[in-house]
Amino acid sequence: VSSTLLDRFGRSIDYLRLSVTDRCDLRCSYCMPKGFRGFEEPKDWLTFDEIERLLGIFVRLGTRRVRLTGGEPLLRRNLPELAGRLSLLPGLQDLSLSTNATQLGRHAVALRAAGVSRINVSLDSLDRACMQTITGRDSLQPILDGLMAGKAAGFDPIKINMVAMRGVNDDQIEAMAAFCIEQHFMLRLIEAMPMGSTGRNAQYMPLNGVRDRLTEKFGLVPQAAELGGGPARYLSTPDGQASIGFITPMSQHFCATCNRVRLSVDGTLYLCLGQEEKFAFGPMLRGGASDTELEAAIRQAIELKPQQHDFNTQPDKIIRFMAQTGG
Ligand code: GTP
Ligand code: 5AD
Ligand code: SF4
Repeated sequence: VSSTLLDRFGRSIDYLRLSVTDRCDLRCSYCMPKGFRGFEEPKDWLTFDEIERLLGIFVRLGTRRVRLTGGEPLLRRNLPELAGRLSLLPGLQDLSLSTNATQLGRHAVALRAAGVSRINVSLDSLDRACMQTITGRDSLQPILDGLMAGKAAGFDPIKINMVAMRGVNDDQIEAMAAFCIEQHFMLRLIEAMPMGSTGRNAQYMPLNGVRDRLTEKFGLVPQAAELGGGPARYLSTPDGQASIGFITPMSQHFCATCNRVRLSVDGTLYLCLGQEEKFAFGPMLRGGASDTELEAAIRQAIELKPQQHDFNTQPDKIIRFMAQTGG
């Protein structure tokens, strides 16, 4: 019998998102402040050995899926090596990666060989100037090159994450949908959450209207199959060849079925994206804790998981940035 980790609300916590760095080569307006961080790797970052040990215990206790995130995970040195080690953990069913794709061209083949089964790419527009505004860099071409390299390496499907922002990229949603349908990418539209000073100012827009517009334009129908392990709700094209997902933490949150926790690069486990509850594993790992002690600590940490976020009622609450928690 395989084990399960249940929280106080009966949710099975089987999805761990691991932030391997809080650095990024882009400065997306909703995600990271302009002057954020330099190049040195702080001493408190978990090493690959520490990550492998801790995640091994998580997987023994019931984690089935691990997603590598950041910051930009491909900025962590030797990431494919870490992926290879994690993919061998007995009992892990799904190892995935969320990336901005600027460096994907160099790493796609190695990541696939290392056992990464799925990748999600952040891309908020197909317009060069708009991408410059959103990401703070002339990033469109490197991202498209990385995306195509990922496709060529055999990742299928690749999901495209687009944060929809009123007055910023909302006029480009249909073009993105058409591009993704044609290229067989799975588009997911995301509502901006008020995280850190930057996310707070993002031009949040509810996705209901967009969903109706796209449904009419592309003749979308409900998608019955479960796609991935995340909170997106999907519609499909009539031929069933393409799907578009909607991630609506603000207008219709999905906390009742939340299955995830987040481990940041310094070993702090955040129990919810929109709450402060956390548990520090770094000092335990470095203080000589035994596997049994770590196991007990994981169970205790999961008990701290709150019921849901308060983004709507307390939009100023979360001052840490997305990249600090893990996206
Ligand atoms: P799969 O469905 O397994 O492919 O993954 P996913 O959709 O969970 O992963 P991804 O990293 O692509 O998540 C996309 C975006 O959804 C994130 O960047 C967040 O904006 C949002 N999101 C993911 N998980 C949560 C969550 O637990 N809570 C909230 N509020 N938003 C989330
Ligand atoms: N709101 C919603 N999603 C965010 N992301 C980062 N910041 C936010 C925010 N404030 C997500 C985007 C991006 C991924 C790396 O993190 O989906 O694609
Ligand atoms: Fe889970 Fe918190 Fe995200 Fe809700 S906001 S889905 S409880 S992590």
